[in-house]
Amino acid sequence: MSICGKKVVVLGGSSGMGLATAQAVVEQGGHVMIASRTEQKLKSAADKVKKNVETYVLDATDEKAVQEFFDKVGNFDHLVSTAADGLTGDFLELPVSEARKTFESKFWGQYYAAKYGAPCMNQGGSITFCTGLLSRRPMHGYSILSAINGGIEALARAIAIEVNPIRVNVVSPGIVDTPLYENLSTEERIKYFNSLIKKLPVQKIGKSYDIAHAILYLMTNEFTTGTVLEVNGGHLLV
Ligand SMILES: NC(=O)c1ccc[n+]([C@@H]2O[C@H](COP(=O)([O-])OP(=O)(O)OC[C@H]3O[C@@H](n4cnc5c(N)ncnc54)[C@H](OP(=O)(O)O)[C@@H]3O)[C@@H](O)[C@H]2O)c1
Repeated sequence: MSICGKKVVVLGGSSGMGLATAQAVVEQGGHVMIASRTEQKLKSAADKVKKNVETYVLDATDEKAVQEFFDKVGNFDHLVSTAADGLTGDFLELPVSEARKTFESKFWGQYYAAKYGAPCMNQGGSITFCTGLLSRRPMHGYSILSAINGGIEALARAIAIEVNPIRVNVVSPGIVDTPLYENLSTEERIKYFNSLIKKLPVQKIGKSYDIAHAILYLMTNEFTTGTVLEVNGGHLLV
């Protein structure tokens, strides 16, 4: 199955892996609708995608706004959700209110997108959620993201047998060099990435296009559903 001529909604398409996915879809002849909260980020992303791109300001944590967004979009083929942010911190220290906000963003944002997006999808459509290696490889200070990622992976398997024949899959990235790390100084980022490069079997940090490539596979392989595709450079092996 080709992505050529298909309409793809990318929540989180203004940055990082979502933007790389939007670019890859358009390069292959598809049309993208990218959504996120910040108009300026969307504008700059649309300039990078260049053609066949529409932008929508949307907060994925706002259930009503997500519902209205899909009413506006109408029929489309594939849904990709990489939209998320949130706080992390030690389990005993992170206030429950902040943990809930992270859940609102990464769990409920993707849940609303699937719930209100699936009924608008054409035959042969797919949903791709985004989680991360923390569901299988816990790291100190990231318990809430581990729980969210595990929850989304279970949700994908469960709804794959409810929204069928629409396929539902998950891409689970390892460490990928995206604007997510802009809160670190350049020096801190290089130090962190270099320490990982030494450990990882592939001896590189992921790039957004590595994840976009995996998402394209999940969108186009008609026999793949209920799957978690790990794209982490072998991080779980070391
Ligand atoms: N980078 C990594 O190493 C890594 C590793 C494992 C998993 N992940 C996961 O991969 C996904 C993508 O991450 P990334 O690295 O590509 O991050 P990114 O570059 O920061 O992109 C995140 C995107 O989500 C949008 N967004 C955030 N909250 C939103 C909301 N409530 N509603 C709508 N849009 C929202 C952001 O735009 P606005 O700010 O304009 O809303 C942005 O476009 C995330 O789920 C992240 O947890 C990342």
